[in-house]
Amino acid sequence: MSEAEELRTGLKQFKFEDEGQTESQSLIVSIPEVVDPQYGMYVWPCAVVLAQYVWGHKEELGGKDVLEIGSGVSLPGVVAAKCGAHVILSDDAERPQCLENCRRSCEANGLSDMRVMGLTWGRISPDMLLLPPLDVILGSDVFYEPEDFEDVLVTISFLLRRSNRAQFWMTYQERRLVHRSSPPQVEPAVCSHSSRSISC
Ligand SMILES: C[S@@+](CC[C@H](N)C(=O)[O-])C[C@H]1O[C@@H](n2cnc3c(N)ncnc32)[C@H](O)[C@@H]1O
Repeated sequence: MSEAEELRTGLKQFKFEDEGQTESQSLIVSIPEVVDPQYGMYVWPCAVVLAQYVWGHKEELGGKDVLEIGSGVSLPGVVAAKCGAHVILSDDAERPQCLENCRRSCEANGLSDMRVMGLTWGRISPDMLLLPPLDVILGSDVFYEPEDFEDVLVTISFLLRRSNRAQFWMTYQERRLVHRSSPPQVEPAVCSHSSRSISC
């Protein structure tokens, strides 16, 4: 990390809890964040919504195999790991600084053993062929650049076909129609593979 980035880095804390639960049943996740919209160093609103969805489904996640794509600072993946899932984080293989962000988030939450891999959308790499069968694929704010949509869909389609039981849990932000003063519009969706199509 450069000196300038270090100066702009802070640990941001996120608390997950259920109504009526005690403090000891809640979860606090710390994410090192550089306030810079480039390089996935920032927790996007989509990540907060997806992490909350993951927390809401924690009972289903114990022992499950989960892959996060376009992880950036990896809030949903870290929450899934804290809920007992076997999580692999991934980001663009050509942006080592993004993979480093994933690792820093793991370390900040005592998850130094969590696997981080390069996974570039639209490319089927040898590492992808070696992935275990997946139960859940996480993607927060991966549909943000229209020119990448096809590549993201190629990757998701490939992963869902390889693991018939897998679901894709994702959030996206509607940016086109948003007025500057409006809060971000974030939509969640769950997709799974059927023999003919991806249905959402
Ligand atoms: C808008 S950020 C979202 C980051 C994080 N998921 C979140 O919601 O906070 C998009 C992420 O996708 C990653 N990304 C961009 N292009 C990619 C590509 N071609 N293949 C894989 N990851 C990519 C970026 O590095 C970045 O981490």
